[in-house]
Amino acid sequence: MTPFPTVRVPSFAGGDRSEEIVLGHTPVIETESLTKRYGKEPVVDRLTLSITAGEIFGFLGPNGAGKTTTLLMLLGLSLPSSGTVSVLGRDPVKEPLEVKSHVGYLAENMGFYFDLSARDNLRYVAELNRLDGVDGRIDDCLKLLGLFGDGDKPVSAFSRGMRQRLGLAEVLLKDPLILFLDEPTLGLDPGGINTMLNFIVRLPSERGLTVILCSHLLHLVSRVAHRVGILRKGRLLAQGSVKSLAEKTGLPDDLEAIYGHYFREEEVPRRDS
Ligand SMILES: Nc1ncnc2c1ncn2[C@@H]1O[C@H](COP(=O)(O)OP(=O)(O)O)[C@@H](O)[C@H]1O
Ligand SMILES: [Mg+2]
Repeated sequence: MTPFPTVRVPSFAGGDRSEEIVLGHTPVIETESLTKRYGKEPVVDRLTLSITAGEIFGFLGPNGAGKTTTLLMLLGLSLPSSGTVSVLGRDPVKEPLEVKSHVGYLAENMGFYFDLSARDNLRYVAELNRLDGVDGRIDDCLKLLGLFGDGDKPVSAFSRGMRQRLGLAEVLLKDPLILFLDEPTLGLDPGGINTMLNFIVRLPSERGLTVILCSHLLHLVSRVAHRVGILRKGRLLAQGSVKSLAEKTGLPDDLEAIYGHYFREEEVPRRDS
């Protein structure tokens, strides 16, 4: 885990706002009793979260826990049933475009035009987002993700790892302040996972980004996250640094052990030897 950065970055652009976001200090995502119901059942249940600028927040929980639904509500793509949500001080329900312009969302399944080159895919996204003067930025993003030399190849020739990196290049194109990464290492080999994590871990200190990293791969999350939140059936069971959760539960300083504590009854049975 990297030390928590405490540098200042300029505030998100927007009208005459001129305050600064202070990494390690300014809350950039806040929810209060955020709830989403499909039918009667809540799939996100009274979620209260506060995430600070420059944090890598590991959002943990098994499939179906409500992680993606939460991200969609933070983006204004899904309407909350009740509760409040604020991203960069704005309500994503009322100002979805404003919020989306500052949040990069790497969805679980990024869609690309496979017969187009990586560069043309990025150009297309830049046009959709009405970004100006993007050719330089596209090159920068390709370089950042180690794809510059492959920029003119069709995406169909890309490995899964290269596509994931292209996905990250795409969401970084609009120079976001916040990144939502939904299972970014899914389907990657160990080398691809390492590349991805080494990249993610530098984003706060080098780019001033705040990151929510959704995953159920605990050992990966514990390598990069400053704090984690553990979600089960829509309820946030715990949030904090691994160290603070270890102190609270009396368990070793180990995310697997802590997570297991909250999912005891759902543990996979072990074979008697
Ligand atoms: N559009 C939808 N309509 C009905 N149920 C949904 C919808 N989207 C998600 N769900 C349900 O909400 C629960 C949480 O899903 P999700 O947020 O995708 O979980 P996670 O990302 O943690 O795997 C699941 O039980 C899922 O089936
Ligand atoms: Mg999901």
